[in-house]
Amino acid sequence: MYDKGYKHIYNVDISPVVIEQMAKRNGYNRPEMKWEVMDVRDMANFKSDMFDLIIDKSTIDALLCGDSAFLNTAMMMKVQHNLTLTYL
Ligand SMILES: C[S@@+](CC[C@H](N)C(=O)[O-])C[C@H]1O[C@@H](n2cnc3c(N)ncnc32)[C@H](O)[C@@H]1O
Repeated sequence: MYDKGYKHIYNVDISPVVIEQMAKRNGYNRPEMKWEVMDVRDMANFKSDMFDLIIDKSTIDALLCGDSAFLNTAMMMKVQHNLTLTYL
């Protein structure tokens, strides 16, 4: 998406290692991309409706495999629904 012109992209993951590695991998070619360590169940740093689109790249799979799967998934979806009009 970035390479097609969508420059304002935030990427989040709960793992600092993932964020550090991905930021390093993309930093040179995609300098405007942002990377933040964040729990998808609590994204209070972001404002309501601030995103046009949120894409979940398998975070839901991780939540569904853990403890309190349905509660955690519901929390994520509620938070992300508040942040955007379109959720994929
Ligand atoms: C299947 S991996 C997908 C990785 C990456 N999104 C991608 O597309 O390659 C699932 C990711 O979900 C992250 N994750 C698990 N629970 C999370 C949470 N509560 N908040 C944010 N990320 C979480 C894990 O750290 C892991 O990197």
